[in-house]
Amino acid sequence: MSTQFADSRVRTNPLFNDNRFKLGIFGPNVSNGCAMTLAEGRLETTWPNTRAICTAADQAGFEALVPVARWKGFGGPTNFNGSCFETYTWAAAIAEATRQAGVFSTSHVPTVHPIMAAKQATTIDHVSSGRFALNIVCGWFQPELEMFGAPIMEHDVRYDYATEWLDVVKRLWTTEDEFDYEGRFFKIDKGFHEPKPIQQPFPAIMNAGGSPVGQRWAAKHADMAFVALEKHDFETAQARVGALRGLARDDYGRDIQVWNSSYVVCRPTEKEAVDYLNYYVREKGDWEAVENLTRIFGMQSLALPKEVLEEFKFHFIAGWSGFPLVGTPEQIADRILMLSRAGIDGTVLSWVNYQEELPQFVAEVLPLLEQAGLRKPAQPT
Ligand SMILES: Cc1cc2nc3c(=O)[nH]c(=O)nc-3n(C[C@H](O)[C@H](O)[C@H](O)COP(=O)(O)O)c2cc1C
Repeated sequence: MSTQFADSRVRTNPLFNDNRFKLGIFGPNVSNGCAMTLAEGRLETTWPNTRAICTAADQAGFEALVPVARWKGFGGPTNFNGSCFETYTWAAAIAEATRQAGVFSTSHVPTVHPIMAAKQATTIDHVSSGRFALNIVCGWFQPELEMFGAPIMEHDVRYDYATEWLDVVKRLWTTEDEFDYEGRFFKIDKGFHEPKPIQQPFPAIMNAGGSPVGQRWAAKHADMAFVALEKHDFETAQARVGALRGLARDDYGRDIQVWNSSYVVCRPTEKEAVDYLNYYVREKGDWEAVENLTRIFGMQSLALPKEVLEEFKFHFIAGWSGFPLVGTPEQIADRILMLSRAGIDGTVLSWVNYQEELPQFVAEVLPLLEQAGLRKPAQPT
């Protein structure tokens, strides 16, 4: 899948390589990663842990290392995601520790001035030799945004703010001379930015807005957009991808990548995988944190209807409401093949125990994806 800018970025950013199905890691910078559980082996936020996960994914040829932008936890016995690394500084260091993976920062637009964001992004693009991508998020977790001293904006206004924010960032990335800017939210006097990013015209942009306004924003501005799959069958995936890709093509003349997020439980037998899933969700799950999360998500995001949120508490605990990749290596490869046939370009993955289960995925599932023609073997550096 390519975008209109792929020609200039394909040389440096693996996001634009020709693997038919791309892979990412989701949440390696936050405590518990994506699993809201007290199960043994859950992720602890230390630099050696996050570095080891990212270098393992890098060696295996993953295209995307995607951190979560979080400022406060969700309470409960795990205080889910409460311990977390800031994502620009994280990405700068991960860029230096890796050689080929795409390195992402996730930026809440209300927390960073666009001049600062553009500068940090350009710096990481240079550190990574053009492997950087920026995940733009508007924010929905009210308590963390209110820590910054301003009330959270009304839902759709957040996306207007993001449009202006990105407009300023792009002007800094692309304008040779000084420029003035006056919008509804930002006033820039003699804006200036050097050096320019390595990627031209600018680094890859990700957005995972799920509401109608969010999906439209992603279709218009992002190279990499996301679908939330409220059912786990082929037809739902195909319909969601088709709608988002169609929106980008028909309304904005853009060809975008469409990804989703998935959680992985891979075991020698299906029964072992399902038993472990039930153990870490039903027995060890942090049901208090998931209550807090879904209550605020339900009020502040329009991505999933309330009744789906209720039903999805299980999947939030299992892996941030991602698509379940649960079973034997063969079953997981089949499910990924199904996502690919439905038109999905890639998925960001999470596990309970990233340090042990990612290497297992690389050893047991990746070869099956290569045999199926979804990916070329990685070239370890
Ligand atoms: C893969 C993925 C990564 C995301 N990362 C973050 C994040 O790090 N921080 C955050 O506050 N929201 C994050 N989000 C939330 C989205 O940006 C978005 O706000 C959410 O899907 C709700 O959609 P809406 O804003 O259109 O209502 C992420 C969503 C997905 C699917």
